[in-house]
Amino acid sequence: MIIRPRRLRKTASIRAMTSETRLSPSMLVYPVFIREGKNIIEDIPAMPGQKRYSPDTLPVILERAVRNRIGAVLFFGIPEHKDECGSSAYDDDGVIQQAVRTAKREFPELTVIGDVCMCEYTSHGHCGIIRNGTVDNDATLEYLARIAVSQARSGADIVAPSDMMDGHTAAIRGALDAEGFTDTLICSYAVKYASAFYGPFREAAGSAPSFGDRKSYQMNPRNVREAVREAELDIAEGADMIIVKPGLPYLDVLRAVRERVNVPVASYCVSGEYSMMKAAASMGWLNEKNIACESAISIARAGADIIITYFALELAEYMLNGEL
Ligand code: PBG
Ligand code: ZN
Repeated sequence: MIIRPRRLRKTASIRAMTSETRLSPSMLVYPVFIREGKNIIEDIPAMPGQKRYSPDTLPVILERAVRNRIGAVLFFGIPEHKDECGSSAYDDDGVIQQAVRTAKREFPELTVIGDVCMCEYTSHGHCGIIRNGTVDNDATLEYLARIAVSQARSGADIVAPSDMMDGHTAAIRGALDAEGFTDTLICSYAVKYASAFYGPFREAAGSAPSFGDRKSYQMNPRNVREAVREAELDIAEGADMIIVKPGLPYLDVLRAVRERVNVPVASYCVSGEYSMMKAAASMGWLNEKNIACESAISIARAGADIIITYFALELAEYMLNGEL
């Protein structure tokens, strides 16, 4: 007798019924770049298909996000003015604050996540305050707290600190609570590697460091036990959910973290992953739709509850059509 696992693959409906991994639009988060100005929708050369919007043109893309029933949008701000301490990031009239107010006014039911970091807003492009030539962890915390409070005040449902400073979640939680924003969630980038896959994002957001690199605060790609420790610390400090980043190259990390924590875990399939897929597809070497779907399936299979991806709008459409 032959034992036949193949029987489960016999028809599309049996394959669907016995599928171990199911995806839905509500698990998807779509990152959006918002730059200061008016009437702007501009291409991002390193990320074909992605655009920068000014706050007033933002509803065009948010409408599609709502229509495709995705879980949330994640806002990255690109300010006109940069300085040493990234003051535009905590300006109540800053670009991200304007964008959040517009989004919540036009689409109150759409969940809005604000990226909390300083690199797009600092003249030196680092994710914190520079003292004696390096990023000063503790001096940065009060700035991150100010940014988070300002975003909460403009209506952000969730703040997502991506700076990788130790103690950021506790600092932000304390400040939010003190200002009465006890119901604003924190989705912490607890596990963020010093990765070469962020290249296209830095072009999109104008956030490349002007000297040095981010290896003194982002994680060493060789480490996985440290990822679990970072995740546990952020959760102890009050993170409601956490992010592991990048996505596909770090599925083992995602799995290890998933097995050790009990909060929702998001995987961020980053700009470099997106641009690689787009580039190969544009050469005719790979099928874009199929690799985008398989990537999302793989990330979900590895344990992600939430997937942050530049393909979110397309993926949601495939899901709603019953194709994914
Ligand atoms: C920095 C930040 C980065 C990304 C989002 N916020 C990376 C970095 O410059 O270190 C990368 C996202 C992507 O590549 O898609 N706070
Ligand atoms: Zn940063």
